[in-house]
Amino acid sequence: MLTREEEQKDWAAVRALNESAFKSSTEASLVDTLRAKAQPVISIVAEEENKVVGHILFSPVSLSDHPRLKIAGLAPMAVTPKLQRKGIGSALVRTGLEKCKRLGFGAIVVLGHPEYYPRFGFAPSARFGIGCEYAVPQVWSWSWNPACYVMPQAPLNIMLHSRKLRL
Ligand SMILES: CC(C)(COP(=O)(O)OP(=O)(O)OC[C@H]1O[C@@H](n2cnc3c(N)ncnc32)[C@H](O)[C@@H]1OP(=O)(O)O)[C@@H](O)C(=O)NCCC(=O)NCCS
Repeated sequence: MLTREEEQKDWAAVRALNESAFKSSTEASLVDTLRAKAQPVISIVAEEENKVVGHILFSPVSLSDHPRLKIAGLAPMAVTPKLQRKGIGSALVRTGLEKCKRLGFGAIVVLGHPEYYPRFGFAPSARFGIGCEYAVPQVWSWSWNPACYVMPQAPLNIMLHSRKLRL
């Protein structure tokens, strides 16, 4: 398995992957929207035997009162259902975080499974006084934690602004 930057030839496979991992087209459409409207987008795929088996996307988010801070949001990420729990997701997160750091992002925020992200150094954002400007939609149900997480380099006592893009 290797991780590499997504290319245009991967778009259809990335869409199919997100649809199958999330059993919905919401995240697949979010990827398409972010690719079209966000800048820069960090989009990385995991490839096995020339097939896309994982995908992760980071895009800029803003924090109120701190417009100059360079913060990225991690969303979404997905691994082919049959290949989950084999380390592909972890490889994508680690590769993505490195890339974000190289591009000068000081912190990464994510809405996601509370058991999953702490292993990469994420901590509850409430610890840094960061909240989220919108309620997590009910449709995300139990698997989504309504807390945000942030890499602890940046002590930010502010509100998170994100997902302003409409699907
Ligand atoms: C979440 C996801 C990307 C993880 O990818 P993965 O390749 O399975 O992850 P890894 O193999 O690197 O890590 C596996 C670990 O993550 C944990 N994990 C996987 N999915 C999890 C979930 N939904 N909730 C909590 N922990 C989860 C496993 O328990 C395992 O823990 P362990 O190492 O202690 O045994 C993948 O399960 C997926 O695509 N899920 C559906 C879409 C989704 O929920 N995306 C993430 C949104 S935050």
